[in-house]
Amino acid sequence: MNASNSFSGYYLTMQQISAIDQPQQALTASVEVLQAGGLVALPTETVYGLAADATNGRAVADIFALKGRPKFNPLICHVADLAMACRYGIFDAWAEKLATQFWPGPLTLVLPMQASCEIHDLVSGGLDTIALRCPRGIVARIANSLDRPLAAPSANISGRLSPTLASHVVAEFGDKIDLVVDGGPCKFGLESAIVKISDNQIVVLRAGAVTAGQLEECIGRPIIRAPKDARPEAPGMMRSHYAPRAELLLDQPAASEGQALLGFGKDAFAAENIPFLNLSETGNLPEAAANLYDYLKQLDQTGVATIVVQAIPHDGIGEAINDRLQRAAVPRQIGSGTK
Ligand code: TXA
Ligand code: MG
Repeated sequence: MNASNSFSGYYLTMQQISAIDQPQQALTASVEVLQAGGLVALPTETVYGLAADATNGRAVADIFALKGRPKFNPLICHVADLAMACRYGIFDAWAEKLATQFWPGPLTLVLPMQASCEIHDLVSGGLDTIALRCPRGIVARIANSLDRPLAAPSANISGRLSPTLASHVVAEFGDKIDLVVDGGPCKFGLESAIVKISDNQIVVLRAGAVTAGQLEECIGRPIIRAPKDARPEAPGMMRSHYAPRAELLLDQPAASEGQALLGFGKDAFAAENIPFLNLSETGNLPEAAANLYDYLKQLDQTGVATIVVQAIPHDGIGEAINDRLQRAAVPRQIGSGTK
């Protein structure tokens, strides 16, 4: 096979398979591509990920190259279950409790790495910790078949909005990846919560669908929220990240001519000549989270210079929605946090 126009050299052009209509074919094809050192875009309950075998350095390097991602930004390892996770990370009683309660699900645990860890060094960016997540669905089944974790960042160019539909991935990468598995719209629509457990402390590095309140309830003690101006420990903590092309103006009631409006709730309204989408007409926060990136992308594509976003409550998953909006709204400078 002449694979010269394939990024990782497996298929000539990208293949697309539906995980809903053809679950077995999607599983078999994904395992085949990953075993051959290729990259596969896969649906998770949070966002679509761009996956490689976490022990294959060449494949992991392809992820960094394709995303334009700085090498110091480590990747999450996606596992089949807690037993697989224990081969790579050191679980204390809290970590075990959180994994037991929230896996499979939208929670990533950053833990000390096991000494004999065959995950490639590029994955952890030279850190002595490892980020582990067990998602629900096809990713866990693939990890189980491979008997190895999948290193997978969100399947977008670094700094841009994460994909919540297979079509977002195709628009971003076209034929540069071997296989896109279409699982329909992602249920949560925001990246996983990232929690670091070390030095007898539990710190939320990135807010997500598993909320700080749920974490506290599970372990029965207060958790620490990483301060907004802290030195970024997870690049998802960088002030500018998850950004559309247009400038964002947050917490405004209305948009004027030449702007677009991203509304929330039953009273949201815009004049006819203003591009307008409503994250949730009923004011439902999980629905708003699931729509957030797709609607930002759609409004961005209208070509407006500014997207005005109405106020969104901070409770529950609203904390993560507001976190992402604030990062998307930070003015970008070349060479700043946009990569
Ligand atoms: O929901 C998600 O988490 C999605 C899906 C695909 O699983 N993945 C995702 O990956 O959002 P990514 O690469 O876009 O964001 C992962 C974040 C990055 O901010 C990275 O810096 C952080 O996890 N991270 C990974 N390993 C880490 C470690 N050892 N210590 C601290 N942060 C880490
Ligand atoms: Mg990302």
